Amino acid sequence: MRATFRRQGYLVVPDVLTPGEVAAGRKEVAAMLAKQPPAEGHVGPHFVFRNFGDRGHPLLDFFLRTGMGELAGQLLREGLAIQPPEGVQVATTIPPWPYRPGGPHVDGLSPTEPDGRPGTFSLLAGAWLTDHTTPGRGNLWVWPGTHLRFGAYLAERGADALRRVDDMAPGPYPRIELGDPVQVVGPAGSVLLAHYLLAHNIGDHDGPADDERRETLYYRLHAEGHRDRWREVVTAPLSEFG
Ligand SMILES: [Fe+2]
Repeated sequence: MRATFRRQGYLVVPDVLTPGEVAAGRKEVAAMLAKQPPAEGHVGPHFVFRNFGDRGHPLLDFFLRTGMGELAGQLLREGLAIQPPEGVQVATTIPPWPYRPGGPHVDGLSPTEPDGRPGTFSLLAGAWLTDHTTPGRGNLWVWPGTHLRFGAYLAERGADALRRVDDMAPGPYPRIELGDPVQVVGPAGSVLLAHYLLAHNIGDHDGPADDERRETLYYRLHAEGHRDRWREVVTAPLSEFG
């Protein structure tokens, strides 16, 4: 598991969530979307973001209950642990949306964090609440191995090159060798773990209008102390991992 993650920059772990947990997650998503629904007739991606704050949230409880943090923590080097997530992104894709991504991006640069720090994190954890077995159903696109090449790009230029989004247009993602993209696949209940620097983008959902919408819960995870060492982390992309 660790070797695969180090080499390709992502991993799909099936059967992390039980069918009951998937159902509970979908129920919460439905409640949130009822409050913030997509516009009438909307197709394509529709997101809802929630910061947990001090009051907690059912989707923080979901994260803690399902063991996603322990799973992600298994990828970290000895002595590091995952902090509880600060928020969640409910990501849906409503068909028909036959638009394939032209290229990838990296998260957290536009906007940055409030103090101007690029919004880097250690890894992304995505809980799949709907079936992702078939490509072209809203599956995330990733470009394997790009976390290492992006790290080399930043090692050459310095970590603050991450702030120069004009050099990484249109992404934002630098003009490094990308290789061929892959659509991540797997059944509902799987968890995707992806390195912060991995090239990725929202995929197409070319199913018919009455097909199931794609539903994913994304948690952006920091290893303890990540914000204090982000420059080291983005220039040595495996330094937080075992
Ligand atoms: Fe993203």
